[in-house]
Amino acid sequence: MNDKKFNAAITAVGMYVPDEVLDNKYFESILDTSDEWIVTRTGIKERRKLSNGATSDLATEAALDLIKTHNIDPKEIDVVIVATVTPDMFFPSTACLVMHNIGAVNAWGFDSSAACSGFLFGLQTATSLVESGRYKKVLLIGADKMTAISDYTDRNTCILFGDAGAAVLLEPAADTNTGIMDTVLHCDGSGANHLNMKGGGSLNPSSYETVDKKWHYIYQDGKAVFKVAVVGMANVAAEIMERNNLTADDVKYLVPHQANLRIIDATAQRMGIGREKVTINIHKYGNTTAATIPLCLCEYYREGKIVKGDKLVLAAFGAGYTWGAAYIRWSI
Ligand code: UT7
Repeated sequence: MNDKKFNAAITAVGMYVPDEVLDNKYFESILDTSDEWIVTRTGIKERRKLSNGATSDLATEAALDLIKTHNIDPKEIDVVIVATVTPDMFFPSTACLVMHNIGAVNAWGFDSSAACSGFLFGLQTATSLVESGRYKKVLLIGADKMTAISDYTDRNTCILFGDAGAAVLLEPAADTNTGIMDTVLHCDGSGANHLNMKGGGSLNPSSYETVDKKWHYIYQDGKAVFKVAVVGMANVAAEIMERNNLTADDVKYLVPHQANLRIIDATAQRMGIGREKVTINIHKYGNTTAATIPLCLCEYYREGKIVKGDKLVLAAFGAGYTWGAAYIRWSI
């Protein structure tokens, strides 16, 4: 069904989290909530906040970490994709700002909007660009400054989110036995009312009214999203295993989007794998939207837990609704 000669493969990783920590005690001091409620219902203990700066700064730091660690010449980067729902501005793209900051003077690029599935959607886009044979180095960054759109008077949402950026470089692999093996991606716009930010776009341009109504913050019907996220993420992980003939034993790690530990556990259970085979850092960073998956990849790789040849299943669910999975054979 497929006559491609080589895959795209992740050949470098980088990450950045700001120093400022907001722990659950902080939220106890400003809201009617408790560490116990937050940990039991979500798995989150603390998250990071970027007080000065924007998403482009998170993305730039992550990209520079990748460039320095793996000795990459930014002039050789062909394309930069930034997956984000918190761009610095509507335009220009955050990708343009990042390219300028890192000296990727020969690149073109763009922002990609698929919320918590943003990294997976970007991964398929970057993979296609590499597999086309036309581009050799595609930098994919997942970065979100979620604290910029969090309402710190709404206990339903603000405790969930944090700020981070993480990056991967995609290059041609030697063959089709390693790298990005497969992806499955889905969208269902009927979920738009349950998870969104209503204000500031062409539907509700910024006004005193949109500010009064708090439409410049995240709105989430947590219960409604939870129900579909559990089913969506578990189903899509099972789907990618099935169509690649993967058994639970084959998979070294499930690398899930970090929105809620209960959603992560449900997905692992559906795949028939235990917690020890799931990458988890939600307790440290909360939900960083497009950054969660590359952040996990980078941390687990640097800790020596993910090694060359490992079979990984990535899975995410987010606003849109958007959801998907990827099967990767790790290449570095
Ligand atoms: O990443 C993109 C996709 N997003 C997701 O996957 C998130 C999906 N949803 C969730 O993770 C969960 O629904 C939440 C963590 C957001 C909420 O957990 P829940 O178990 O679904 O709680 P709930 O919204 O049903 O609220 C239960 C109760 C409510 O009180 P009443 O109405 O039962 O009296 C809430 O008001 O918990 C209350 N509550 C809180 N209590 C203490 C909500 N937030 C808090 C809080 N502290 N921070």
